[in-house]
Amino acid sequence: MCGIVGYIGHRQAGPILIKGLQKLEYRGYDSAGVAVHDGDAIQIRKKKGRVMEMASLYKSNPVSGTAGIGHTRWATHGETNDQNSHPHVGGNADVVIVHNGVIENYTSLRKQLQGLGYVFRTTTDTESVAHLLSHHLEEQIKFGSDPEELATYLKAVEITLTKLKGTYGLVVMFRDLPDVMIAARLGSPLVLGVGKGEHFIASDATPLAGYTDEVIYLADHEMAVITRDEIEIFHRDEGQQKLSIQTLDQVSVEAELGEFEHYMLKEIFEQPQALENAMRGRLDEDEATAKFGGLNLSAQQLRKIDRVVLTACGTSWHSGLVGEYLLEEFARIPTEVEYASELRYRNPPISNSTMIFAITQSGETADTLAAMRECKRKGHPTLAICNVVGSTIAREADGGIYLHAGQEVGVASTKAFTSQVMVLIQLALFLGRMRHLSYPAGRRIIDAIHKVPDQIRKCLECNEQVKDIALKYCNFNNFLYLGRLYNFPGALEGALKLKEISYIHAEGYPAAEMKHGPIALVDEATPSVFVVPRGQIYPKVMSNLEEVKARKGPVIAIACEGDDKIADIADDVIYVPDVDDFLQPLVTAIPLQLLSYHIAVLRGCNVDRPRNLAKSVTVE
Ligand code: F6R
Repeated sequence: MCGIVGYIGHRQAGPILIKGLQKLEYRGYDSAGVAVHDGDAIQIRKKKGRVMEMASLYKSNPVSGTAGIGHTRWATHGETNDQNSHPHVGGNADVVIVHNGVIENYTSLRKQLQGLGYVFRTTTDTESVAHLLSHHLEEQIKFGSDPEELATYLKAVEITLTKLKGTYGLVVMFRDLPDVMIAARLGSPLVLGVGKGEHFIASDATPLAGYTDEVIYLADHEMAVITRDEIEIFHRDEGQQKLSIQTLDQVSVEAELGEFEHYMLKEIFEQPQALENAMRGRLDEDEATAKFGGLNLSAQQLRKIDRVVLTACGTSWHSGLVGEYLLEEFARIPTEVEYASELRYRNPPISNSTMIFAITQSGETADTLAAMRECKRKGHPTLAICNVVGSTIAREADGGIYLHAGQEVGVASTKAFTSQVMVLIQLALFLGRMRHLSYPAGRRIIDAIHKVPDQIRKCLECNEQVKDIALKYCNFNNFLYLGRLYNFPGALEGALKLKEISYIHAEGYPAAEMKHGPIALVDEATPSVFVVPRGQIYPKVMSNLEEVKARKGPVIAIACEGDDKIADIADDVIYVPDVDDFLQPLVTAIPLQLLSYHIAVLRGCNVDRPRNLAKSVTVE
């Protein structure tokens, strides 16, 4: 994770860097720092905590200069403190770097460099890169290279990169080369913003909004040399590259909180609109199917598909699990959902007729990207379901479907989850209608989908009631989330939402599986959240609910409107509209999200920036 920014131009760098870091804070918020070249030396201001804290430090001691780099950290190696914050200094302060990624061989590099007399001031992996760079720069100069020449510095960076194992997006500044920055990428994203007499660097395009809409995405093994007037890009094996400048087609509108206290709450309430966006132009009433512009596969190729692999992490994996159920039910295509972190190192047999879909909100998750690349390497067309336009996965996929959910700022995914489910419903309908699904069945699905945004609006009316329920349960420390069929992924997602923002231990389980172990946890102090809308096996889930009640476990039920019976058994009931089974993960998601939100608020947690997390997980 971590967010990187860089600026070289004619304006004061400090304020631009700080503003950029604020926009990248979703990538990590353990600490932040900037380094600005004042003409003689590189001055660093860095601090543990949010960008705001570093910004006030900077304000009390600003640096005048028009070139600088900045970083907001999600700690991987080394605890969170001022010292370990980036930027890091190499050698005799001749080199300063910011880095996103993980240097896997940093311990051996550290030992070698300590042997050469380098003194380490931090416990990070990045500091070894800074010293290594300084070492190779010194070596170049010692063996006759001109310290005034750019080539000397480029060579030092090139040699350093060959010694690194792991991933990096990094930007380097040199004390003795004040008008140049060098950026390099392997595995962690970097984008360059092209201006007039000024250039920008960032982990993604959001900090560039308002400055330029012309960007260059750096590819793996590429290195960029950036001055005020020029950008040159070199590939490790292919030499100098032609610049491929793209125009950002999505103007980044700064998300405002408006009437809401937190982004998470705002994004929960944006779901009716987000779902409409995920459906817009995709439902074909006449043919009773869905249509997608960007799959880049012919009808013939699509008909040949006899297996689907969905790969993702976290919440996106949960929507993938809903996708598995949907694709098997509607399209009768055998489907598996794989954790991307597992798939990338496994070698499951995948035939030419298997369709692979990476599901990702950010389009930058390192494991999902690696799993996708691994599949592509083996020659399988790989598609993506993604929210962020222009993200690495969106660019590298052979085709795909955008969510159009709008920017999701809160670290806990809400509207992206329901939008992913909505896209998967339409995908299952689309593939189903090419196979066994009849016209009337297709029409029934479309009619049901059309009602969803209003049904979600209705669900949101439970907010005040959920707040009261949260007050009753916010001091419990263990929760079970239980559901069956389409509501099992919903239960997993409900549990994840609670643990990530309120730090309460919560486990999601298929309700019937509970008696094979987790039922031992049930007592007065362990509430169970039952996701039990009416459906195919409602009576079975009710039996599971009774089993919990028989053991004195408090029960919060998410049930269908009109289900009066459940109120006699469960301690608390939140009603959602009665919908088809396949739509239940959408309507039940709302009370589950609201419950975790209100519990977290009542416990005084930082809902939008929960501890130890980041919005975009760009490390393995
Ligand atoms: C949880 C959450 C994470 C992400 C996961 C994958 O609320 O947001 O579990 O779902 O890190 O992220 P993306 O979808 O960006 O690949």
